[in-house]
Amino acid sequence: MEYIVTSKEMRECDMTAIKDCGIPAMVLMERAALSVFSEIEAFLSETIRIAIFAGCGNNGGDGLALARLLAEKGIHADIFLIGNTEKLSMECGSQLSILKQLGITVNSKSAKAEYDMVVDCLFGTGLTREITGIYEEAVRAINCYGEKGSRVIAVDIPSGVCADSGKILGCAVKAELTVALQYGKAGHYLYPGKMLCGHTVVHNIGIPESFKSGKEPSFFSYREEDIHGILPERAAFGNKGTFGRILLVAGSRDMAGAALLCGKTILRSGAGMLKIITAAENRDLILRELPEAMIYTYEGKPEEEKVRQSIAWADVIVAGCGISTDENAELLMEMILEQGEKRAVIDADGLNLIAREGSLQEKLLKYQKGRVILTPHPGEFIRLAGISMNTYKENPAFYLKKLAKEYGCVIAGKDAVTLVASPDERMVYLNRTGNDGMATAGSGDVLAGVIGALSASLEYFQAACCGVFLHGLAGDMAAEKQGKRGMLASDISAELKELLKEETA
Ligand code: ACO
Repeated sequence: MEYIVTSKEMRECDMTAIKDCGIPAMVLMERAALSVFSEIEAFLSETIRIAIFAGCGNNGGDGLALARLLAEKGIHADIFLIGNTEKLSMECGSQLSILKQLGITVNSKSAKAEYDMVVDCLFGTGLTREITGIYEEAVRAINCYGEKGSRVIAVDIPSGVCADSGKILGCAVKAELTVALQYGKAGHYLYPGKMLCGHTVVHNIGIPESFKSGKEPSFFSYREEDIHGILPERAAFGNKGTFGRILLVAGSRDMAGAALLCGKTILRSGAGMLKIITAAENRDLILRELPEAMIYTYEGKPEEEKVRQSIAWADVIVAGCGISTDENAELLMEMILEQGEKRAVIDADGLNLIAREGSLQEKLLKYQKGRVILTPHPGEFIRLAGISMNTYKENPAFYLKKLAKEYGCVIAGKDAVTLVASPDERMVYLNRTGNDGMATAGSGDVLAGVIGALSASLEYFQAACCGVFLHGLAGDMAAEKQGKRGMLASDISAELKELLKEETA
């Protein structure tokens, strides 16, 4: 698990290191400069032409320290210190006076020379407003060098990218490589910031770990190696009941694919038994394509007793994919929500039905806390939350947390970067797997399936986060094999099988 912080949390960590632990800020700065040096070392030679654009804060200080490390190796860098040098931060001022003592020249304006590498240290997490004036000129100059082929390296975060939201404040540097210091910041992984960071590497600069339960950062993320420890071991003595009985309520007339994709994924993700409740029109297809599933089909109104028995049989219910919003679908959702205690994953039309004012909302509010996972895309989320898309996009993590708390549900907010919020005060999971090839019909049905299967054996929030991670990773594997364009949801499902085979090997 990797922590991802906001600018405020990063500042608090810096302060804890400096004030509580007594690590001087100049030591942290040296470590930051050494980290950047180690990343660019492979490209360095005596003939390389380097420019360092430094601001007047501590991000600029990192850049001045880097210039000194380069000089030590006999490598000259043109240094441009942009801004009011009367108002340098204390550490940036100290770095400047060291350079002066060493006879290293610092310029205040960028020259029109050519560079092989340009290092951006104008602003780090201290950026608080839109970039204008001389700073804007400097950002444009850096990007101009980048367009002409210079390697652009950003220190901590590209200048102009908001570390908390990934938004561009006025204009921003487009980097090829970003050396993030101590922790990744949300702005490295949220769009559009993510596109400007290029490849992001995180370097430890010696700030002691000070997060503990009750004082956690805003976000966390999984890495591939984390998943090995999270997926439950399969019991060698287990039977099909041991690995989860999943009831899938999905697919209406003309929407057979949703039930099939989701159902296949549930079994491919390791569930022991699957029962599908779907419209009669889908019966033949499902029996043919997924003979492993039990099936109850309804023509006209579903038989309530049959539905009740199926709910009672299940460990987990996955509901909503392609069920439509007609009265049959509404009745099925009513029955699922009124029992109030089975673990449930609700997607697509199931969410649209809940978004309508009325008894479904009330039933969801009364459902046992933390037993339901909702998986809305932005359109479904705003209908559920009753807010505009612009409002949601301003701060998705905030609104996901708010609604998760209100409903007592885990919510996986699907998007280019999926976020998962829990009803308690836990960190928001920020997913870093996946790609734009996965923006394709049925991809959400596959996600609901994998989360449903994992919910049979993992704690709820963990099942949702882990499912989102694996779904994205399977999408990345599919993209690697056959490209992103033209990816089918069934390709993602097929890769999940491969992935889980490796995970449990
Ligand atoms: N236009 C002009 N000026 C601006 C703008 C803008 N759009 N936005 C912010 N500023 C100013 C701020 O007002 C501030 O100046 P002030 O202090 O006079 O108010 C300055 O730019 C802040 O610039 P930054 O260099 O981005 O911020 P800071 O000095 O906080 O340094 C830091 C950022 C600490 C390096 C950050 O990126 C970080 O946390 N990195 C990880 C830890 C680290 O690298 N530590 C090593 C350094 S040690 C230390 O910083 C304590």
